[in-house]
Amino acid sequence: MSLPPPGAAPALVQRLRADLERAAYTVDAVRELLGPLASAALGREQVLPAQRATADVGGPLASLVRLFTLGDAVDVEDAAAALASLGVEGAQRLGLVGQQGPGVVATCDLRPYADDEHAWWVASDLSEIATRQPLREDHVLGIGGASTTLASWTPRPQVDRALDLGTGCGVQALHLTAHARHTTVTDISERALAFARFNAELNGCKWTFAQGSMLDPVAAQRFQLIVSNPPFVITPRSPDVPLFEYRDAGASGDEVVSGLVRSIGEHLEPGGIAQFLGNWEVVGDADWRERVRGWVAGTGLDAWVVQREVQDPAEYAETWARDGGHHSATTEFAMMYAAWLDDFASRGVSGVGFGVITLQRPVGDREPFLDLEEAHGPVASPMGPSVLAGLAARTWLAEHSDDELLAVAWHCADDVTEERFARPGAADPAVIRLRQGGGLRRVVRLDTVGAALVSVCDGTLAAGAALDAIAQLLELEPRELRADALVLLRTLVADGLLV
Ligand SMILES: C[S@@+](CC[C@H](N)C(=O)[O-])C[C@H]1O[C@@H](n2cnc3c(N)ncnc32)[C@H](O)[C@@H]1O
Repeated sequence: MSLPPPGAAPALVQRLRADLERAAYTVDAVRELLGPLASAALGREQVLPAQRATADVGGPLASLVRLFTLGDAVDVEDAAAALASLGVEGAQRLGLVGQQGPGVVATCDLRPYADDEHAWWVASDLSEIATRQPLREDHVLGIGGASTTLASWTPRPQVDRALDLGTGCGVQALHLTAHARHTTVTDISERALAFARFNAELNGCKWTFAQGSMLDPVAAQRFQLIVSNPPFVITPRSPDVPLFEYRDAGASGDEVVSGLVRSIGEHLEPGGIAQFLGNWEVVGDADWRERVRGWVAGTGLDAWVVQREVQDPAEYAETWARDGGHHSATTEFAMMYAAWLDDFASRGVSGVGFGVITLQRPVGDREPFLDLEEAHGPVASPMGPSVLAGLAARTWLAEHSDDELLAVAWHCADDVTEERFARPGAADPAVIRLRQGGGLRRVVRLDTVGAALVSVCDGTLAAGAALDAIAQLLELEPRELRADALVLLRTLVADGLLV
C-alpha cells in the first residue's frame, strides 16, 4: 500500500520551513557535504558513497540528507535536533516521517532544488533508491531528467496566466511562479495534487489546483503559457506492463502527445505559447517529421519541434522496463521487454523520437510557421531564453516578406565564430563553417556566397545590398544568388546566428 502524501497544514509547514532554513538544507550545501564523488553517484541513483560520506557527520544537515534523500533511518535525537521547530511529532502529523524500531524514517522524499535565481524544497514519493523496491503504480515522481529538461527549455516571458498540465509534485509550477501572475496546476492523480499542495505551501506559492484528465479540468480556459511534462511514455496495453500513472496516461502508441498537439490550441491566448516534451513513433523508414507535421496540420498553430534523440524499439523497452525499478535479470523485466517489442512490431515501429514541442497561437490570421529540426548534442542551459528569442525570430520571419528580410542590416550574434579548414598548403579553405556558442549550438556550413554575406553582417549594410555587391564581385546573376542566399538567411535568423 502507498503511504499517504503529506498534509499541507500551514502552521506545521511553516515550522518545517524554518527548520530547513536553519539547517541550510540547500542544493549547494548538500553538494558540499557529499563531495563530488558521492553527489555524482547519487545522480546515478547510487546511495552508498553518500551514506559513507555522511556516516560520521553530525548536525542537522547530515541528518536531513540521511533521512529525506537517502531513505536511511535516523536516531530520534538526531531527527529531533534537525527538526527542532517542527518536532518529530509534528513531522509525523504532516506525514513526512514514521517510527522504525528505535529510529525515524522518512515516508516521503524531500530535497532542495534550485535554478540560477531561486531555491525551493520539493517533496515527492520516496524513490526506489530509498525504498529499495520497484515503484508503485501511483508513484508521484520527484525531479527527474525530463523535469529539468523541460524547465531548462521553457521560454519564460512575464505572463498573466500559466498552466502546468500533469504537475506531479509541482516542479514546473515552481518555476512558473517566478514569471506568471497566476498559475494553475492540474493532474489526474489526487495523490500528485496533494504533494503539489504541500510543495506550494512549503515554498510560499499560491496556485489554483484542478484534478482531471489532460485538458478536461481547464475546459474553456485560456492561458498565455502552458507547460507540460506529460505522461508521454509509449506503453504496451498488456497486463505484463504496470500502468505507472506518472508516465502513462493509458493511450495507445504516441496518442497522448498527438492529442495534446491537436487540442492545446483552444487553450492558448493569441500569442500564447505551449511547450511540452514528447515521444513520437517512427514507422518503417518514414521520416519523423512527416508524423509530427501531420499532428500540427490544421491546428492553426506555429510549431517548432526539436528532436533530441532517437531510440530503437529495444533501447526504448530497456529504458522504460528499468525505469520502474525492475532489474534486467528478473522475469518481470523479460515479460515487459517482450510486451514492448510486440507492441512496436504490431505498428511497424522502427524507432522512437524524443524531443521538445513548442507551439504558439499566432496573433491575427497569418500562415503559421512550422519548423521541425534535429539537435542531438548539448545545447545552452538554460535553453529557455534561446527558445523565446527563436520564437520571436520565427514570428518575425513569418510576418515579413523576402524583400523586408533583405532590407535589414543584420549582424552576427556575439556567440558566433567562423571556422575555416583547408588542405595542407592550399590557399583557399575547403570548408567554412559558422559555429554558434549558445542556443542550439548550430554548426552551419557556408558556401562562398554565404561566407561573403556573413562577413559583412555588421549591422550597417542591408542584406540585399550586400548580396548585390557580392553578385557583382563574383560575376553571378543577382536574382539567382538572392534566391539561394534567402534560404541561408532565414535559417541563420531563425536560429539566432544573425540578429
Ligand atoms: C512525467 S510526470 C511529470 C511531473 C512533473 N510535471 C515534472 O515535470 O516532473 C506526468 C504527470 O502527469 C500525470 N498524469 C498522468 N495521466 C494523466 C492524465 N490523463 N491527465 C493529466 N495528468 C496525468 C501524472 O500523475 C504525473 O504527475
